[in-house]
Amino acid sequence: MIIAVDGPAAAGKGTIARALATHFGYHFLDTGALYRMVGLAVIRNARDPADTRAAIAAATSLDPSGFADRDLRTEAVGAAASIVAVVPEVRSALLSLQRDFARKQPGAVLDGRDIGTVVCPDADVKLYVTASPEVRASRRQKELGAASYADVLAEIKARDLRDSQRVTAPLLPAKDAVILDTSELDIAAAVEAAIAIADRRRR
Ligand code: DC
Repeated sequence: MIIAVDGPAAAGKGTIARALATHFGYHFLDTGALYRMVGLAVIRNARDPADTRAAIAAATSLDPSGFADRDLRTEAVGAAASIVAVVPEVRSALLSLQRDFARKQPGAVLDGRDIGTVVCPDADVKLYVTASPEVRASRRQKELGAASYADVLAEIKARDLRDSQRVTAPLLPAKDAVILDTSELDIAAAVEAAIAIADRRRR
């Protein structure tokens, strides 16, 4: 059983995907963290995330034990992840790791941008979690504390544009995905809606 959860930054897909994994007793993979690890490795090597060679070198020598690194969650690393994610060789270097994970028993929930379209096109359940850029910016601003709303909104819009306009595996809902707009939902309601969708699809 594979549940694919895709969507733009700060739409709530991580929270929803984790909750689905807990609810059904499945394994969970935050695929954005893989791209963030690549972005962080490039930054730590004092290279520009737009340096394609540095990004490919970091992706092909990725140490997947870096999931717990606190620096992964910063906005700078999120932006770097979105930049390295444009490079096709970076994406292909991370593909088998994601597909191997998806085969875990009794099931796996993966969240990202291209799970339902590229990584697991045969996923049993596909959710596309979204919300308006303004709602996502305001949630992200609360999470980050001090940052200005205007800056966070601009960063979210830039990331949406980069993630959805890239040539390889752009952010877009799979044709058979169920769209879940969380703009008007709190966390509990969004999780409840996602579980109901997954239950319907699993039958
Ligand atoms: O979900 P996130 O914000 O942690 O992801 C960071 C960036 O990584 C995102 O802006 C684009 C990239 N990404 C991707 O291209 N494909 C994925 N499956 C997951 C993330």
